[in-house]
Amino acid sequence: MSRQTGSVAVITGAASGIGRGLAEEAARRGMRLVLADRDASALAQVCAALQAGGSEVVSRVTDVGQLAQVEALRDCAVERFGGVDLVFNNAGVMQTGYSWEISQAQWQRLLDVNLGGVIHGIRCFVPLLLRQGRGGHVINTASLAGLLSSPLLAPYNVTKQAVVALSETLHYELALLDAPIAVSVICPGAVASSIMASNQHSDTAGDGLSQLLGERIREGMNPAELAALVFEAIDAKRFWVLPHKEFKVALQRRVRSILDETNPQFQLSASEGEAHAS
Ligand SMILES: NC(=O)c1ccc[n+]([C@@H]2O[C@H](COP(=O)([O-])OP(=O)(O)OC[C@H]3O[C@@H](n4cnc5c(N)ncnc54)[C@H](O)[C@@H]3O)[C@@H](O)[C@H]2O)c1
Repeated sequence: MSRQTGSVAVITGAASGIGRGLAEEAARRGMRLVLADRDASALAQVCAALQAGGSEVVSRVTDVGQLAQVEALRDCAVERFGGVDLVFNNAGVMQTGYSWEISQAQWQRLLDVNLGGVIHGIRCFVPLLLRQGRGGHVINTASLAGLLSSPLLAPYNVTKQAVVALSETLHYELALLDAPIAVSVICPGAVASSIMASNQHSDTAGDGLSQLLGERIREGMNPAELAALVFEAIDAKRFWVLPHKEFKVALQRRVRSILDETNPQFQLSASEGEAHAS
């Protein structure tokens, strides 16, 4: 299957940041797009801009935390384009704060969107890809937080690590079936986006994390650059997508600490690759 011109890409969280960058790169490659986001007006703007550039785009306002809405998104893709080739489970939100102070509702929001959204995407689209029998690719946006835990990001770390586990499991399962469906998981550090607008926490005295994260994200990788790296990985059917290579040192240190059974130590130093809170 050529995953270029004419392929159908479904992208959630497509109205902003990383999702928008992925949509623009997919459009540049001549793909047909099914764009989803909870923010109706931003979604309409992205859709209109891509259509003005000549792309075939359908958009659907979707809350990925609601199974019925993801089912409706799949049905919309099939109705409009007859099938799907690439599924980007990308929508996500931020929550900072001490783990014991984060409210039940805030924990639930992260579980519903960051993890539930990917579970729903897999349950709705993988059976379709299998039925179609023409191959496909599932790309889940986790985070560096899917591999390395930072303090004050408990629900974000928990949901992103679950997305990595789910992606790896899916990869093994599809290989067991010898299914021609690839899986990739994206684990970026800071990328310039609006994600901090979704944070329901203001800094308290001992905690300047939202401010620090906000700065890192404002200065983060350009979504267009990230999207180009993601599509390179898709072309190569590569599972791991780690766009910020500098964090590999911290990852090695973590594995070393597990193998050596030494206590984990957090170091907030970008040069050492442990300021990985996004
Ligand atoms: N920006 C970063 O530094 C960074 C780093 C690593 C991973 N990520 C991940 O990248 C993904 C995209 O985030 P972003 O940084 O582009 O942020 P963003 O806020 O710019 O974009 C996220 C989009 O998802 C949408 N969205 C939020 N909740 C939704 C829901 N329930 N249903 C449908 N759409 C929803 C928002 O409306 C928004 O348009 C997220 O999963 C995020 O966790 C971001």
